[in-house]
Amino acid sequence: MDTVLVTGGAGYIGSVVAELLVSRGYSTLVLDNLRSGHREAVPKGARLIEADLNDRAAVDRVFAGESIAAVVHMAAAIEVEESVRRPLLYYRENVGSTLTLLEAMVAAGVRRLVFSSTAAVYGVPGRATITEENPTRPVNPYGRTKLLCEQLIEDVRQAEGLGYVALRYFNAAGATEDLGENHVPESHLIPRLLAAAAGRAPQIDVYGTDYPTADGTCVRDYIHVVDIAEAHLAAIERAVSGGAVYNLGTGHGYSVRQVIETAERVVGHAIPVQVLGRRAGDPPALVADSSRIRRELGWQPKRDLEEILRSAWQWAERHPHGYSG
Ligand SMILES: NC(=O)c1ccc[n+]([C@@H]2O[C@H](COP(=O)([O-])OP(=O)(O)OC[C@H]3O[C@@H](n4cnc5c(N)ncnc54)[C@H](O)[C@@H]3O)[C@@H](O)[C@H]2O)c1
Repeated sequence: MDTVLVTGGAGYIGSVVAELLVSRGYSTLVLDNLRSGHREAVPKGARLIEADLNDRAAVDRVFAGESIAAVVHMAAAIEVEESVRRPLLYYRENVGSTLTLLEAMVAAGVRRLVFSSTAAVYGVPGRATITEENPTRPVNPYGRTKLLCEQLIEDVRQAEGLGYVALRYFNAAGATEDLGENHVPESHLIPRLLAAAAGRAPQIDVYGTDYPTADGTCVRDYIHVVDIAEAHLAAIERAVSGGAVYNLGTGHGYSVRQVIETAERVVGHAIPVQVLGRRAGDPPALVADSSRIRRELGWQPKRDLEEILRSAWQWAERHPHGYSG
């Protein structure tokens, strides 16, 4: 059985990728330092190695002790605002750890990688719908570290014959029966909105209602975490030689107001809203053109916004205090 190593597999998206790998019969190894992940999120059937990716000796031991066919590299620090305050941490956590991982992979002869990138590499694009050809001009250290990782991986492909797929996710959301979103602090709209719906937060803050969008609030492309996980499977299962970069979104944009309205339908009552001013660096609209991955890997998203909200709400109701309660 092929073994797949998932770095960051105790985190939100990584745990769902690990769950899907286990269900498809892959021997699944999670490497995570539990900095922001949760031991309880590592799915049954996957093995957790508690280690830091910046610890080269520990990473080498993982590759020496296992027959690893492919690596899904999701471990990262992901808070935009924190990245502005603590750039050194972000370059160490994101670029430094990717460098260590690549050194260890090359030394061990492991040549297949799926990398978690982000729509943040595009910065504030001049257009709403974005293809992979859109210029990459990240506007914060988080986005810059992810773009640097993509460039590092491409250089290693050219020199060492690494095969890779980099997936630029748009807004990940939703849950499976057992696994959901539990970041601390939580900066993402949907879990914050559902916390307000459950009365665990006084209201949902809406940043800006004067954007050039249909209702004045920001438009984003929300993609179900299981659709993201399925894209990783498609990337692993198609033998990759060479490198490929794909946008991962649904192609449908929803405004903050539309997300709130859909959430109110799902939870069955109104959710208190507080309107605030714009936040610096928020583009009015960010929607993926994902036709390249649809065409080349045969992947397509199957779950809509309603399903995202319903699954996230079910998970939030079962885990009112996240994984800690
Ligand atoms: N959540 C989103 O909407 C979104 C959007 C675009 C891209 N991404 C990317 O997807 C990936 C996963 O995001 P997430 O939301 O699941 O984040 P998360 O914080 O839930 O998961 C990240 C995991 O990586 C682990 N980790 C961090 N640094 C580590 C290190 N040095 N060594 C070992 N483990 C380490 C953490 O403990 C955590 O379990 C990230 O690479 C992120 O940049 C996420």
